[in-house]
Amino acid sequence: MLLPLSQLPASLLPALAALHQATMPTLLSDLGDNFVLRYYQLAQKDPTVIAICALETSQPSPQSPIAYALGSPDPAALNAQLRQPLTWFALQLLRLAFSRPGVVLQLARSVLTASEANSLKPGQIELTYIGVAPEARGQGLGKTILAAFVESARAAGYTSVALSVETDNPAALALYTRFGFTITQTFREGRYHRHRMQFDL
Ligand SMILES: CC(C)(COP(=O)(O)OP(=O)(O)OC[C@H]1O[C@@H](n2cnc3c(N)ncnc32)[C@H](O)[C@@H]1OP(=O)(O)O)[C@@H](O)C(=O)NCCC(=O)NCCS
Repeated sequence: MLLPLSQLPASLLPALAALHQATMPTLLSDLGDNFVLRYYQLAQKDPTVIAICALETSQPSPQSPIAYALGSPDPAALNAQLRQPLTWFALQLLRLAFSRPGVVLQLARSVLTASEANSLKPGQIELTYIGVAPEARGQGLGKTILAAFVESARAAGYTSVALSVETDNPAALALYTRFGFTITQTFREGRYHRHRMQFDL
């Protein structure tokens, strides 16, 4: 069953955050449970965010999230909301500085090495995150949730969807190219090699 993030019961947000962490090895996941959960809480309330979840409807785990796609016309502004309230953010960083100092360095590096290639043109929305639970892959769910995201973006009046994907992620590259995304640029961001891809609506 597919439903917009805005309609996902708050009780399922921790499971969605856990799915994100299990499927998306990015800086947000490295920042830990508290940040990922807060990100989804903020995204759920942000009217500019387009996000779709797929829920498992069969036993033994009814209603657990098994896939998601989330995008924004301004991903940096959504990330910036994580810095509020400032006391919460400072406490989280302090905790990380002691438990995982490398992640704090990674956070600083990501700000310094952010590439221009990621900037959005007028009318574009970024597909920021998409993931399918490992046990549900290879059955068309990635394609289904991507199509739902694209349709929501079209309905909201966007003219294209843009995304960045690491060049060594064959599953994601297959999903995007078979769907019709094309590579517009290949670039380096810190230690990552990425393609910028676009799908015109
Ligand atoms: C990328 C991902 C979402 C694909 O989900 P999925 O449900 O397995 O994808 P689908 O079953 O819908 O497959 C879509 C297409 O990609 C192809 N594909 C999927 N995985 C593939 C793989 N590992 N190698 C080659 N092709 C693959 C499928 O054959 C299918 O092609 P078709 O339309 O010609 O049949 C999933 O692998 C995932 O969650 N990966 C981890 C998170 C991630 O990397 N996200 C993207 C970050 S940019």
